[in-house]
Amino acid sequence: MTGADGAATVRHFLRDDDIDPAEQTSVLDLAAAMKADRHGHRPLAGPQTVAVLFDKPTLRTQLSFSVGIAELGGHPMVLDSRLANIGVRESIADTARVLGRQAAAVVWRTYGQERIDEMAAHAGVPVVNALTDSFHPCQVLADLLTVREHRGHLAGRTLTYLGDGANNMAQSYLLGGASAGMHVRIGSPAAYTPDVQVLADARRIAAATGGSVVVTDDPAAACEQADVLATDTWVSMGQESEAADRAAPFVAFALDETAVARATDDVLVLHCLPAYRGSEVATAVIDGPHSVVWDEAENRLHAQKGLLAWLLEQNGDPT
Ligand code: NVA
Repeated sequence: MTGADGAATVRHFLRDDDIDPAEQTSVLDLAAAMKADRHGHRPLAGPQTVAVLFDKPTLRTQLSFSVGIAELGGHPMVLDSRLANIGVRESIADTARVLGRQAAAVVWRTYGQERIDEMAAHAGVPVVNALTDSFHPCQVLADLLTVREHRGHLAGRTLTYLGDGANNMAQSYLLGGASAGMHVRIGSPAAYTPDVQVLADARRIAAATGGSVVVTDDPAAACEQADVLATDTWVSMGQESEAADRAAPFVAFALDETAVARATDDVLVLHCLPAYRGSEVATAVIDGPHSVVWDEAENRLHAQKGLLAWLLEQNGDPT
């Protein structure tokens, strides 16, 4: 098969369901193997270069991709996207063509999903979504790895996300969690619910994996006997001008001690970070005994190494 620009069709990771449930398991298995033998896998030896670009702020993502690409034997090239000014100074398509001629893969954090779709259509090498307005699939891979480590398996577990149901984390939990056969519950105000097409996609996936999907504006019902409780900021990057309007609607959806008390006794608490203690998450919860957020932050590294190695393998590079 050939794709845009006549290049052979390549696999990308632009949203969680770009890999099917069996492939998701393979990526998580590879991630776990890489975590157990941190310097034993070098598919980027050469070194091959991976281009990493950020149109939005970052800490964990820049760190984990830089460390991970180096540990895979490659060279992480973090490009200053203020200089590149992709889509303004130069079209996304032309930028993609240039990047793909020199880099083994492209990792990009940007705004609209259509921007990363356009990058993938023209790069000719794997493109990885390092967060868009719609999805944060690398974070959810790390979250699934974390739950698997602590609880052994994912299928049949109930994962509740509290907060902005329309944001990238909620939508990635829907697709990634459903792929893993989990029961995904989104507890969000009625005005902040997921995109209807994403919800339909998650329901279709869940029907095949034995998982399920629920969206509710009742936070108590959402938390009832949950195995995992997750939350995220109420004001995502790019929404700063809405901050004042976004405070009140979410208060009832805070991940606090009341929410934890409604969940299973050994519930795991996740937060992708950065965290705003006293807003979406109580200090006693994120710093308390149920929290696995530091494992989760570390697992960005391992999950993304597994993903990159898997993508390169799909595209013909031996690992
Ligand atoms: N929803 C958040 C996730 C941060 C990792 C944001 O987009 O800012």
